[in-house]
Amino acid sequence: MTQKGLGVCYYPEHWPREMWASDVQRMADIGLTWVRIGEFAWSRIEPKPGQFEWAWLDQAVETLADAGLKIVLGTPTATPPRWMLSKHPDMLAVDAQGRPRKFGSRRHYCFSHEAYKKECARIVRLLAERYGDHPAICAWQTDNEYGCHDTTISYSDAARQGFQKWLAARYDNIAALNDAWGNVFWSMEYAAFDEVDLPNLTVTEANPAHQMAFRRFSSDQVVAFNKLQVDEIRAKSTAPVIHNYMGRITDFDHYQVAADLDIASWDSYPLGFLEDRIEADDEFKNQYLKQGHPDYQAFHHDLYRAVGRGRWWIMEQQPGPVNWAPYNPAPLPGMVRLWALEAFAHGAENVLYFRWRQAPFAQEQMHTGLYLPDDSPNVAANEAKQVAQDLSQLQADQIEPARVALIFDYESQWASEIQPQGQGFDYFDLVFHYYKALRRLGCNIDILPPNATNFGDYTVIFAPGVVTLTQAQQKALRESGAKVVLGPRTNAKTSEFSIPPALPPNFDGLPLKITNVESLRPSAGVALEKGQIRYWFEHIEGEVTPILNTEDGRPAIVEKDNLIYCAGWLDETALFNFVGALLGAVDIPIEHLPDGLRRRETSDHVVYLNYAPIAISHRDAEIPPAGVHFVRK
Ligand code: GAL
Repeated sequence: MTQKGLGVCYYPEHWPREMWASDVQRMADIGLTWVRIGEFAWSRIEPKPGQFEWAWLDQAVETLADAGLKIVLGTPTATPPRWMLSKHPDMLAVDAQGRPRKFGSRRHYCFSHEAYKKECARIVRLLAERYGDHPAICAWQTDNEYGCHDTTISYSDAARQGFQKWLAARYDNIAALNDAWGNVFWSMEYAAFDEVDLPNLTVTEANPAHQMAFRRFSSDQVVAFNKLQVDEIRAKSTAPVIHNYMGRITDFDHYQVAADLDIASWDSYPLGFLEDRIEADDEFKNQYLKQGHPDYQAFHHDLYRAVGRGRWWIMEQQPGPVNWAPYNPAPLPGMVRLWALEAFAHGAENVLYFRWRQAPFAQEQMHTGLYLPDDSPNVAANEAKQVAQDLSQLQADQIEPARVALIFDYESQWASEIQPQGQGFDYFDLVFHYYKALRRLGCNIDILPPNATNFGDYTVIFAPGVVTLTQAQQKALRESGAKVVLGPRTNAKTSEFSIPPALPPNFDGLPLKITNVESLRPSAGVALEKGQIRYWFEHIEGEVTPILNTEDGRPAIVEKDNLIYCAGWLDETALFNFVGALLGAVDIPIEHLPDGLRRRETSDHVVYLNYAPIAISHRDAEIPPAGVHFVRK
């Protein structure tokens, strides 16, 4: 079994060499075992084209290795040096307005630029040749946070040329493309692939099929870019290769990138996310200001466990205030510990804090670390030490298999962005809405990719809003032996983004069709006996049994055998009641949790986590704010 560990992200190139030995000694003293280095250091490794300075990196690696620390070596391709731009002036990504994105921060490259890709392969090869068999290099990280700062999608010339080739490979002949996209509409037919432009700057919206093709292409470019690096590393090293993904970044298919990697990891900044990526009212945000959303981290832990096919880490963990959200509060004392322990309870192999010492210069000078710029310890250093000690309790624990599965699909997110059809409908939010309801009921949840076919021991599978399901996927779900919850918008489009000829959901074994859809103003929902339908409501016809009707007598949830179809976006009350009744009916144990308290089971423990700003009494335990309570099973 893999040993669970703690670690930190370290930038030796930012500090005088005289500090390194003492840094590394203190890392070991805190109980850290992993250190990530190198991912932004290209200008110091290759200050001029073809001129290398390895001595400093060799020394950094040796210093860490001497202290017995394991290294994750990052490839530096997220930060090409300035000379690279002089060499390849057209390597920049271009935004939707047609403006190149300049040098002066990071991620200033287009995934489709062939010459830049060659430069990346070259630097990765050199790193792998030099360090590939070093015993302290125990893992690799490719690039850094693909897609961060809105960089997956680029409207450059390189992207256009790449897209045209990609289309030719997918459709073979232009008539097939015209037909698949319905280009007869508005006389959008093409005579050749090189006439097809990127879908930006059109007068009104571009054809959704064109947009979907471009989103798929853009995702495939990330997959190819990553694979190129993985191949170079694997040629020289047997250490596992990892990428660090993010919270709620969905512009590329993470499952496909991960297929070429050994382990998934993600960068968890709970307080930054609450302010920056979560829609909630002030009351909620004020309540969780210093703890983060009680379900957001867990959702991503479960998602990345799926992405990593069971193997995942936290590559960057928030240590204190960050610099990038609209407001940047300090965590409640204890949260830096709680976040890490929650990750371990969800099966993380390692958690690395970001970063060792706060940098007094450049963009992230207001971002805390375990140490202050004057080299004295900050709050997080003590909490990290505490986690290192707590970890001994969890060392032998395995992930507890879940009985509830929830499907998450990246293409469905693209579809909801391309054609929301009503403000407020967002696929990620829909799936997260289900996740939150299940968590309030104390469930362990597995997130699954849409093409999962092995549904083993699941009793209930939720697949709301998965935009396209092949016959094989439908069959696997139907024959899973589980209750399968579909809708709204499940299988609403063909793979070429049109309405299926037999009308949605076009699901074998479920004799119903959606004849009309309404998107609803947030303040004008459809009333149910308890709660209401918001944002989205579908009109259903078919030979199915109603489970729940609207107050005016229209079907809201229906079923046929093990298939359940939900015709709208249930509000919190309605969803909670529906999910609670369903789990009860199939004998999945439910534990109603007080506001702010969450739980995750491991093989040996039930781990309770208090996200509330106040102490909570639950099942004879008094759990303080930011408290973690372990119950031995
Ligand atoms: C991450 C990134 C790090 C650092 C951090 C700050 O998104 O990978 O390099 O910028 O955010 O919170």
